[in-house]
Amino acid sequence: MAKHSESFVCQDCGAVYRKWQGRCDACGSWNHIQEETAAPAVPKGLSAGKGKALNFTGLNARPESVARAQTGMSEFDRVLGGGLVPGSAILIGGDPGIGKSTLLLQASAQIARRGIPTLYVSGEEAVGQIGMRAQRLGLADAPVQLASANSLRDILAGIEANLPKQGGPAVIVIDSIQTIFADNIESAPGTVNQVRACSQELIRLAKRSQASVFLVGHVTKDGQIAGPRVVEHMVDTVLYFEGERGHQFRILRAVKNRFGATDEIGVFSMTDGGLSEVSNPSALFLGGAEEAGKVTPMSGAAVLAGMEGTRPLLVEIQALVSPSPLATPRRTVVGWDSGRLAMVLAVLDTRCGLRFAGCDVYLNVAGGLRVVEPAADLAVAAALLSALADSPAPERTVFFGEISLAGEVRPVSQAESRLKEAAKLGFQQAVMPNGLKSKVKGIKAIELIRLHELVELFPQARQASRRAGRQGSGSQGDWGEE
Ligand code: TYD
Ligand code: MG
Repeated sequence: MAKHSESFVCQDCGAVYRKWQGRCDACGSWNHIQEETAAPAVPKGLSAGKGKALNFTGLNARPESVARAQTGMSEFDRVLGGGLVPGSAILIGGDPGIGKSTLLLQASAQIARRGIPTLYVSGEEAVGQIGMRAQRLGLADAPVQLASANSLRDILAGIEANLPKQGGPAVIVIDSIQTIFADNIESAPGTVNQVRACSQELIRLAKRSQASVFLVGHVTKDGQIAGPRVVEHMVDTVLYFEGERGHQFRILRAVKNRFGATDEIGVFSMTDGGLSEVSNPSALFLGGAEEAGKVTPMSGAAVLAGMEGTRPLLVEIQALVSPSPLATPRRTVVGWDSGRLAMVLAVLDTRCGLRFAGCDVYLNVAGGLRVVEPAADLAVAAALLSALADSPAPERTVFFGEISLAGEVRPVSQAESRLKEAAKLGFQQAVMPNGLKSKVKGIKAIELIRLHELVELFPQARQASRRAGRQGSGSQGDWGEE
């Protein structure tokens, strides 16, 4: 019998300690270390000579042609890299209640309707509950095989018995990995030990049977509900389903993908009838202005011609600058990196002489999207300038470009796709970095070398900055004048 010993495992990253401690040295999180019974270690004395000799091949080895199964939801397929690869394991993470079960139920129904055997195992909801939801979504006729179970042993036996005997593609959904337990491990469901062991078995099943396995995992943004992080290393593909609460838009994002590109996104909108695909997301993220020029331009808004993976996406960036009564003015950011905002403000201050020191600054990305690419810098700067000057940005204009600490506007990738998307949605001008050599019919390029030149597009900004400087505390000095 292997000796079981107590150990302390970080519920966030799975690091193991012999003694309890408050902070995990490996991932830096606090209060996530819990006592667990360690899984028996690998037995010692594994000697050479007993294994089967491996067949090594050259790098030119090709797999037998991989036929990807389409889910029938094109947004989903794109994020997967063009469909489901047989024998792959996919983790779908996201906040509780964001719509993971809904997404997978809809995808399962579509897959099953195409004649691929589909098994859906829920550890959270009863079969009747899921049936009711399926009925409401108009999916009740799809030949999905549904079961409700928590014991890994039962689940494995059930799946083995219901997989097609002659092999071939199949899809298995486990909702969620945190509710499944292996009865040979003492810890409670949802602990790192359990999640790791159950995932391992299910992934092994995927490789053995050539079925594609979806594992659902609840993960909050701050990592409060743990476990699935350790699964990320084990699976082939990690997708995150995200969206701001209160917004109806949901974004499926590939974080890791052994069979496709990461940074690819799929956009959905949550409606009464479940998730519907959004094939033209630009129109959706343009704030109130569905198409350029339809709505009276307002101050404090600039449209970013952004990219998400291979896909161009126009997003409205909104800023509000107001005099602050506080000694340390407020900086509030939704949908962008607050460190990056601090940098753009500092560059506007130091390199262009525009003071935001006495002002509260609020920044928001419309529609609940999270923008990560540096090309957003220029659009953010434009929104800030427009808010400060209280004058709208130039009409029918998009912005993109990275801002360097020296106050230069630096080139970014895929300019042509960005411009084409802008032209498609009726924009006529693009404020962008110099020297990109991308020309698109119908779009006038305003090429910038330094951030100064952007300030010239907002003539009232300098005056407003000087006014704010006089009203604020004396410590703000008299920037503005150059
Ligand atoms: P769910 O898929 O159960 O979330 P998860 O599995 O990620 O925990 O989604 C639950 C939320 O979705 C719930 O708050 C209600 C909403 N919803 C709709 O708005 N419309 C629908 O048709 C469905 C099925 C759910
Ligand atoms: Mg669920």
